[in-house]
Amino acid sequence: MSLGKPKYISLWREKNTMKTDQEYKQLSIKEFNKAATKYESQNNGIYEMCKEDYPPILEELKKQNFEKLLDAGCATGPMLTLLTQKYPNKQFVGLDLSPKMIEEAKKKKLKNTTFIEGDCENMPFENNTFDTIINSQSYHHYPNPQAFFNEVYRVLKPNGKLILRDNTASDPVLFLMNNIGENSKHNRTRRR
Ligand SMILES: C[S@@+](CC[C@H](N)C(=O)[O-])C[C@H]1O[C@@H](n2cnc3c(N)ncnc32)[C@H](O)[C@@H]1O
Repeated sequence: MSLGKPKYISLWREKNTMKTDQEYKQLSIKEFNKAATKYESQNNGIYEMCKEDYPPILEELKKQNFEKLLDAGCATGPMLTLLTQKYPNKQFVGLDLSPKMIEEAKKKKLKNTTFIEGDCENMPFENNTFDTIINSQSYHHYPNPQAFFNEVYRVLKPNGKLILRDNTASDPVLFLMNNIGENSKHNRTRRR
């Protein structure tokens, strides 16, 4: 059952010249293609904070019994680098919208890992493919969150788990993040 698009996304759209979903995604691709070569460096600016989410995800994964894991919105695959070291016999897939992120990720030649360019709102996988999906600091870029959850439900096996980490903030901070500055062009941080 579709829950429809949340009202605040519609309001945000009206204020921001009614971009289409595809236009939002093109902005994401442009931004993340630009960030790809330095994404995992010490000097990756605003994306430095993404690294704070890796330890809690690793901790949560200790509770899961998985064989095949998808990192949805994987960028250059920093989480998959950690995971392949920790779980060398499991299977991993990384999916990202940015061709440059995927290009950088593939250069790592991680064991038992496939990197695929694609959209988390329209995943290129069969039904019931994964035991676990992780999604970290990517969800707030999706113009149609319901499509993402529908896809997660479809590609997860029965009793599979989604581990999602993302930003939230107070209303005034959300307004600034979503409406002012470079970040607002490709980012939509939502209420919890
Ligand atoms: C801030 S990065 C976070 C990457 C990684 N999960 C991490 O925690 O380091 C967000 C990533 O989401 C990707 N992304 C944005 N929209 C996407 C979509 N619709 N489908 C797949 N990936 C998407 C971007 O290309 C970018 O690589």
